[in-house]
Amino acid sequence: MAPTARRKILVTSALPYANAPLHLGHMLEQVQADIWVRFQRSRGHDCLYVCADDAHGTAIMLAAEKQGITPEQHIAQVHLDHQRDSQHFLIDFANFHSTHSPENRAWSEDIYRRLKANDHIASRSITQAFDPEKQLFLADRFIKGSCPRCKTPDQYGDNCEACGATYTPADLIDPVSAISGATPVEKESVHFFFKLPEFEDMLRQWLDSDTLQPQVANKLREWTEAGLQEWDISRDAPYFGFEIPGEPGKYFYVWLDAPIGYIASFQNYCDQTGHPFDPYWLPGGDTELYHFIGKDIINFHGLFWPAMLHSAGLRTPTAIFVHGFLTVNGTKMSKSRGTFINAGTYLEHLDAEYLRYYFAAKLSGSVDDIDLNLEDFVQRVNSDVVGKIVNIASRCAGFLAKRFDNQLTNRPAEPELLAEFIARGDVIAQLYEAREFNKAMREIVALADQANQYIDDKKPWVLAKQEGSENEVHAVCSMGINLFRVLMTYLKPVLPAMATKAESFLACSLDWTALDITLKDHRLGTFEPLLTRIDSKQVEAMVEASKQAVAEAAVPSVAAPQATDSDETDTIAFEDFAKLDLRIVEIVAAELVEGADKLLRLTLSLGDDQKQVLAGIRSAYQPEQLVGKLTVMVANLAPRKMRFGVSQGMVLVAGPGDKELFLLEPHAGARPGMQDK
Ligand code: MSP
Ligand code: ZN
Repeated sequence: MAPTARRKILVTSALPYANAPLHLGHMLEQVQADIWVRFQRSRGHDCLYVCADDAHGTAIMLAAEKQGITPEQHIAQVHLDHQRDSQHFLIDFANFHSTHSPENRAWSEDIYRRLKANDHIASRSITQAFDPEKQLFLADRFIKGSCPRCKTPDQYGDNCEACGATYTPADLIDPVSAISGATPVEKESVHFFFKLPEFEDMLRQWLDSDTLQPQVANKLREWTEAGLQEWDISRDAPYFGFEIPGEPGKYFYVWLDAPIGYIASFQNYCDQTGHPFDPYWLPGGDTELYHFIGKDIINFHGLFWPAMLHSAGLRTPTAIFVHGFLTVNGTKMSKSRGTFINAGTYLEHLDAEYLRYYFAAKLSGSVDDIDLNLEDFVQRVNSDVVGKIVNIASRCAGFLAKRFDNQLTNRPAEPELLAEFIARGDVIAQLYEAREFNKAMREIVALADQANQYIDDKKPWVLAKQEGSENEVHAVCSMGINLFRVLMTYLKPVLPAMATKAESFLACSLDWTALDITLKDHRLGTFEPLLTRIDSKQVEAMVEASKQAVAEAAVPSVAAPQATDSDETDTIAFEDFAKLDLRIVEIVAAELVEGADKLLRLTLSLGDDQKQVLAGIRSAYQPEQLVGKLTVMVANLAPRKMRFGVSQGMVLVAGPGDKELFLLEPHAGARPGMQDK
């Protein structure tokens, strides 16, 4: 292998939103980036991979509010979860930071000031839907109503799920805020815009520069050709984010500071380690910068981001690597089918390396979607990794341990075969470099077939029984181990934990830079099982657990829509319903809750017991109206600590919200404590 100059590379993957756990779609992206990074390092390059949580925005603010905690508490919890899941998937981040960090605030403010100084920021007043109840401007996806075309109720403000019509929220029939249920009003406010049209020439050049995959460049050209629009980069308070310098009450839109989070995470890494920062972000350095992202966010990375960097006098990315979406069993991940699989749920049932290998076997340099077919997954991993790769080592290790004291011969058979295996490394390296992991895996598995064939032909188990064949058994098994070493070197970026075990067995490095050696007269460590077969029961259990997780997360409320990949509404099983202890109770006291404008504290009599419940029904009832009324409560709900105290259950109400919230009032003969189902 010709020595190449040591490249200095910085890699990022998209910053996951801090409002939900990581799922297998996120893992597809992180695994893709991680394999590429580990490959570069194995080749001797200096390659760092940073990421962070994307912690800002309305959805995160509302998610925290719903749990009765501050956004800071919420994102801290999610940060730990995300970090743990990535780590267990063997994602080797140099740093996993947060966009809600001092570094990101400083960089966001700084970049904004530079854009402004270059006259690339405009401001003007715009009219938007406003929730008069929550005192909050409503993005399109926070408005619901009936479709103007087919009249299907309960559709979001941008398109109809029933008939596919696209429209603006103003077109909806009877629009309501998805947050409070109030009817939105129109309200004006000043917004700030990034003057994207001024970058038309710069972006045209960028799109023609071959740094993007052809499909991605074509898609982005459609936008530039349709005419670039100014990009709205501000949001009004209340908003969880960074206030715009000199503009009280105005915040950076989450997508402005999100990509800046790449810089911030790297800055934080450099501050901790003393690693140089400037050559990676200032123009003219001899470094490379790559962003791995999904196909849904190419406009942010392929248009807004390079334009912002350009105006701010920072370098633009060397390339953006876009991947397609993960589907499971041929369709969008589905909660009710149990195929919306969280990273944590997967890890409770299966080894991370199974999926790393399967993703590698499917990933290419294109933006095509990738299917995780669960049957194929079991079959493929068992056959390729366990049946073919691991098999080579286990077939030879036994003889070497029993007869040769784990010592390899100094005269291995078939040096040409080994040379052939090593020579394949150039092609495999090119495939890794181009992110054609599927083709690389095919090459490696073809070599494994060849190695197994070699052992089959030589039949060491037959030789072992023949007088005078001792040397040949030794030579054949030593060759088998040498071939295995080459294959594991090629697989190390994909299977790092297995490679570590193999390194201790082989007692040598599996870095690509050490490819060209032959293990001769070399003592092996002890062979331990490298990876066991997947039992399809494990997969079934994971699917079951994914259905379960959905059932547990489904807390009824009038909450904001969450961004999910789910395609359907979920039902609960009768067994789940049967768990509810529904009681008829009397409201014996009701009072206002200091500092909470939606809640009432209710004291409920269950006959023999009393419970305190915080209920969000103040918009519909005065406390004194409630005393003496009977209602239905869920009595066995686990107590929940909310910002304003502990709530020991839930009362059932119905209605669209606001003033129209109706307590379910049982008929007059009902007695408190009665169970009714
Ligand atoms: N927070 C933004 C990214 C900001 S980057 C400056 C975001 N977050 S996300 O959590 O929704 O998605 C993070 C990454 O995961 C994105 O690249 C997205 O394309 C990817 N994926 C989310 N669901 C996916 C699949 N089902 N399949 C593959 N990738 C998917 O977008
Ligand atoms: Zn419709």
